[in-house]
Amino acid sequence: MKRGILNLKQQDRIGWIGLGEMGFSMASNLRRYLASMHLSITVWNRTPEKSAKMRQHGVRVADSLEDLVAQSNIIFTSLANDAAVEEVYSRLIDLAAQVDHSIIFVETSTIYPTLATELSKQISALQKHAYLQCPVFGRPSAAKAAKLIWVTSGDEKVIQKMCLYFTTMSKSIIHLRTADVAKASKFKLIGNFFVVGSMEVLAEGLTLSEKTEVGQENMLNFIETFFPAPSWLEYSRKMVEGSAVSSKDVGFSVELGLKDVGHMRQLAWDSDASLPTADLAHRHLKALKDQGCGGQDWSSLINSLRSASKLPPVGEANAAHPTGDAETTAREE
Ligand SMILES: NC(=O)c1ccc[n+]([C@@H]2O[C@H](COP(=O)([O-])OP(=O)(O)OC[C@H]3O[C@@H](n4cnc5c(N)ncnc54)[C@H](OP(=O)(O)O)[C@@H]3O)[C@@H](O)[C@H]2O)c1
Repeated sequence: MKRGILNLKQQDRIGWIGLGEMGFSMASNLRRYLASMHLSITVWNRTPEKSAKMRQHGVRVADSLEDLVAQSNIIFTSLANDAAVEEVYSRLIDLAAQVDHSIIFVETSTIYPTLATELSKQISALQKHAYLQCPVFGRPSAAKAAKLIWVTSGDEKVIQKMCLYFTTMSKSIIHLRTADVAKASKFKLIGNFFVVGSMEVLAEGLTLSEKTEVGQENMLNFIETFFPAPSWLEYSRKMVEGSAVSSKDVGFSVELGLKDVGHMRQLAWDSDASLPTADLAHRHLKALKDQGCGGQDWSSLINSLRSASKLPPVGEANAAHPTGDAETTAREE
């Protein structure tokens, strides 16, 4: 722990990088809290239009990453994938090496654990800065309602200082109490395995219920009574009602889902373990992506199962639908 980080003479000056589905809502909730404390937030997004939407709330929009680093002593990042995180942090680390003030970096994206370790090492080597890996659970609707679940890792005293800010965006915080930032990324991938594994089970069971004419609505009633977990309720309904493929209802895309499922399979491989359910889900998601459905919500993986069972895809009539390839893929399993 470096003394300077906790003994800031200046006020906290918060910067936010990445205003996607998650980042926009998280930054908006944090902004509301900061405004109540007469503090401000500076944002930067690769596509400037998204930052401009925040300007109307009195948010300062940085012209560049250089500008944001110069203005901030706490920087949150919410970025799509490892490549984006690597690209942005390579610039942030260069810039952090040139400033006099200390900076706490809070990285919230879902990335492979070794990348978190690498970034933490590079930032620690600069002596006066700190790096926390704090992935989040919850869909964009939960981010909007400030009901995310945060996971923390990194220097414990820095986390304590930052907790107040985390609570403005979340309903609960899971403290892993470890300086090993890779642990939080591993935790996030294993947590997401439970989500995608649940979706795989739901997609298979709901498809069978339609094939056997038991009726999906009856199964939904059963799920509501027997498995009333929020993710089971939400995903089963999306799969039956077809909102999984609606362009208005993309919480987590097939594209991002493939990134996470790829990471969890790699983690299993690297750890001498196996995740056969993730292997199945990966095939079903990949089949959708190959058919141009990478932008749909990842719960649309049910269409790979439906296609294999010669059922029409759920969802809007005009949505891009999976066809024979998914059938072949699923039947090969
Ligand atoms: N959506 C969910 O349900 C959910 C839940 C929990 C965690 N997560 C994780 O949270 C992170 C963000 O997810 P999201 O749903 O907000 O994704 P998103 O809507 O796709 O937003 C991604 C953000 O990353 C930026 N970005 C992508 N490539 C970049 C690059 N090369 N350089 C700079 N910026 C780049 C995008 O900028 P542009 O606007 O310019 O494209 C955008 O701000 C991901 O790691 C995801 O796995 C998502």
